[in-house]
Amino acid sequence: MNKNITILVVDDEDYIRDSVKIILETEGFHVICTDNGHKALQIMDEHYVDIVLSDIKMPEMDGITLLKKIKQKFKDVEVLLITGYPSLDSAVESVKLGAYDYITKPFKVDDLVNKIQKALDSKTLKNQVVKLQQIISIYDSSNFFSQTLNHDEILNQLQRVLQTELNIDGFYMNIFTRGIESSFNFSKSFKNFLDNEYNFKKSLITFKDRDFQKGRYNNDGQDYNYLILPMFSSNGLWGVFAAYKRGTKTFRDIDIKILNIYVSQCSLAMQNSLTFEDLSKGYIETVTSLSKAVDAKDHYTRGHSENVKNYSLMIVEEMGFNNEFRDIMLYAGLLHDIGKIGVPTEIIIKPDKLSDYEYEEIKKHSIYGKEILEPIEFLGDVPYYVLYHHEQLDGSGYPYGLTKDEIPLGSRILQVADSFDAMTTDRSYRPRKTIKQAIEELDRCKNTQFDSEVVKAFKSALKRENII
Ligand SMILES: [Fe+2]
Ligand SMILES: [Fe+2]
Repeated sequence: MNKNITILVVDDEDYIRDSVKIILETEGFHVICTDNGHKALQIMDEHYVDIVLSDIKMPEMDGITLLKKIKQKFKDVEVLLITGYPSLDSAVESVKLGAYDYITKPFKVDDLVNKIQKALDSKTLKNQVVKLQQIISIYDSSNFFSQTLNHDEILNQLQRVLQTELNIDGFYMNIFTRGIESSFNFSKSFKNFLDNEYNFKKSLITFKDRDFQKGRYNNDGQDYNYLILPMFSSNGLWGVFAAYKRGTKTFRDIDIKILNIYVSQCSLAMQNSLTFEDLSKGYIETVTSLSKAVDAKDHYTRGHSENVKNYSLMIVEEMGFNNEFRDIMLYAGLLHDIGKIGVPTEIIIKPDKLSDYEYEEIKKHSIYGKEILEPIEFLGDVPYYVLYHHEQLDGSGYPYGLTKDEIPLGSRILQVADSFDAMTTDRSYRPRKTIKQAIEELDRCKNTQFDSEVVKAFKSALKRENII
């Protein structure tokens, strides 16, 4: 039962070492002996040790110093100290410093075996707690990964869990199918080694059966224990991930399993994020060409939707809104007049004064716009911002004569952006105003037609851009 348990016995007295070795081997433990602390640490660098049983009083390095060094470097190793001079002080000190317990010389065989067994039980319990923490962390991070579509947030989360959960010193990720490279604390010489050894640059690294590659590399006396994992998308291998631990820290089987989970989660999250980006780009392109089609109905309004989008975004930025609202206003700006598709062209381009009937037809473009856009789910509130973009604060606007707070902020922003562009461009029925005159008009009509906060933000954005 104890066959796979390794105990390191450190004592400068031969007969103690030999007798302890015989006792513990009889119990089935694998025992390694050494006569001083330096050699003990060397052995621990090379072999996995479960428990260290060390004398306190030894030449060169005493047991307390050895205990401190072990606790620094090998956190999950339990240490039991042996003392020939039972004094409460050294015992209490050793336990405070992290020793599991101490044994006084001369000791009874049963006592020694009992304490070793208890230390093993404590180690098993601690390992289970660590495993549980790892499971919780995997659960938490999978929640996190599935909640964001932002590249940087995904990579920051990966970095956080790799450092805290797996003690990783550096990592590198290359999603070669999309030309995305990211690294954290990654040594240049190690990167060169990977490029040469695995042809990383050309992405020719191949993985059989979704397997990992593990190895050890040395540069300028620095050891790197590394691990390379494939990253998969639904279309197959799409990137590689490499991580290393410096010095004697190695990747245990459990580390590799956990790392695999994190990297797969990250890969999936990155894939979602890129798909979302592609879709958004596609939407923006489609929406932009739609808005151009509307503007093209009248050569006087060419570029109008693009301008309204740009002015709206300047206001949004000046007012300090988040990216989500920014994206919504981007679409709202481009699409605010989409309903003009449903208005006869001859009315839109008519250079003379419109008849009452024609004006009523033009006014319908807000409602048509809302109806066209409403079925498109990703546009959120855009259809409503479009519906109300000709409402005015004093209730004199259309289609419903809403007042003040009844008009959504998105519409109040569109209204300022829209009016400013209309005033500063030529129309078939009147020449353009200068920027100064247009600003005066915005100021004159704030609180009756326009929201004064929006006008204020627009003016400071125009100043910031050196337009006024
Ligand atoms: Fe309009
Ligand atoms: Fe407009």
